[in-house]
Amino acid sequence: MKLKICAGSNCTLLGSLSILDQIDDLKEIISEDAENYRDEGLEVEVIKCLGYCKETNEQVAPVVVIDGEPMFNATSQAVMEKIVNKIRK
Ligand code: FES
Repeated sequence: MKLKICAGSNCTLLGSLSILDQIDDLKEIISEDAENYRDEGLEVEVIKCLGYCKETNEQVAPVVVIDGEPMFNATSQAVMEKIVNKIRK
């Protein structure tokens, strides 16, 4: 699974780095629990600004892209749920 986390100023102000921390914790949980999760590898890329904040005047930050699908106003909980749902056995 490929994840892109925005680390531009708009997104970091609204918590994208704490989402990144949570993903690191989740990676550990997944690798230790092969019974319940497919360990297909989480590839995480941190990007300076994904550009979405410049395309609109609406509030989109923080932005996380999961397998090409952008999630706007992302929360740790929503991101974790999405990842877990995709890799749960
Ligand atoms: S700072 Fe995150 S999309 Fe621009």
